[in-house]
Amino acid sequence: MGQGQPPADSPPDLEALAARAEAEIAAAENASDLNAVRAQYLGKKGSVAQVLRGIGTLPPEERGRVGQAANAVKVRIDEWVQARRTALESASHAEALAGRRLDVTLPGAGGSPGHLHPMTVMIRDVADFFLGLGFSIEEGPEVETEYHNFDALNMPADHPARDMQDTFWVEGDHVLRTHTSPVQIRAMTGRQPPLRLIVPGRVYRHDMSPRHSPMFAQVEGLMVDEDVTFGDLKGVLYAFARHLFGDDTELRFRASYFPFTEPSAELDFRCPFCAGDGCATCSQSGWIEWGGCGMVHPQVLANCDVDPERYQGFAFGMGLERGVMLRHGLPQIRLLYDGDVRVLEQL
Ligand code: PHE
Repeated sequence: MGQGQPPADSPPDLEALAARAEAEIAAAENASDLNAVRAQYLGKKGSVAQVLRGIGTLPPEERGRVGQAANAVKVRIDEWVQARRTALESASHAEALAGRRLDVTLPGAGGSPGHLHPMTVMIRDVADFFLGLGFSIEEGPEVETEYHNFDALNMPADHPARDMQDTFWVEGDHVLRTHTSPVQIRAMTGRQPPLRLIVPGRVYRHDMSPRHSPMFAQVEGLMVDEDVTFGDLKGVLYAFARHLFGDDTELRFRASYFPFTEPSAELDFRCPFCAGDGCATCSQSGWIEWGGCGMVHPQVLANCDVDPERYQGFAFGMGLERGVMLRHGLPQIRLLYDGDVRVLEQL
């Protein structure tokens, strides 16, 4: 400024600048375009700021007029930007509303109905089969006395067979029942044969693996009458297995030991995952354990005041989850109790 400065510039063409700004603002299609245009004209290094900064180089008589004109252009551009911003916002709002429009005259999408849990289906199916054979369905408590769970079943406190069942003790002489067999005692005590009943229910053991869960379900069966034989037991269990799993179901009876039956057997079915070839689910044996069975021990009958000279009975206790695993090809018992709808929907 002052002497030695280059000759004063001619006044900038503010009208042309305003016209360009107006056109660019009108062309802005969204907020970020608009911000860019605004910065270009009104920003610290924008066109208007440059004009204002250049005022000092103008002849003094021009300075006031150009300064006023530049400020007026600044105000106009700001108004155009505001107006454009409001227009863009209401357009995008309208667009969003249009996208969310609800046509209340459209038919409903329909809910998908749920279905029974596969364990419920299994228990109902089991009940159905045995009701057809004239058995009744009974229940017993899940918190059971030591007497019913062990003693009356021929397992006094020092009996080694108690170790076979990893027991959850509750309080005093109560346990979470480790099997449904205590209901045999409850069913026979105070009643006389003929007796034919099943007991579906939850049981508890300190056990966890792909085939074991600390809570699982069994169905106990008991039939006591005159002339009941092991042949009756096998016949009933074969019919039962074929009802559940189909006519070509293969079973295997293995001689075994339970304190409350004599003779005793464990019952296996062919592993459905490898068709008997051996796999991880059946521990390479080709068979999966389903439960235990046998002829009711005379001492157990006597414990319930049923005359062992006159009556015999058979009993069995099957794992219900094993049956569901066989039916649906489920490799892990836990899948039944995780409550994962993605799994349950497939069953
Ligand atoms: N209660 C036995 C168990 O859970 C199974 C069983 C029931 C065996 C009835 C024989 C007779 O292991």
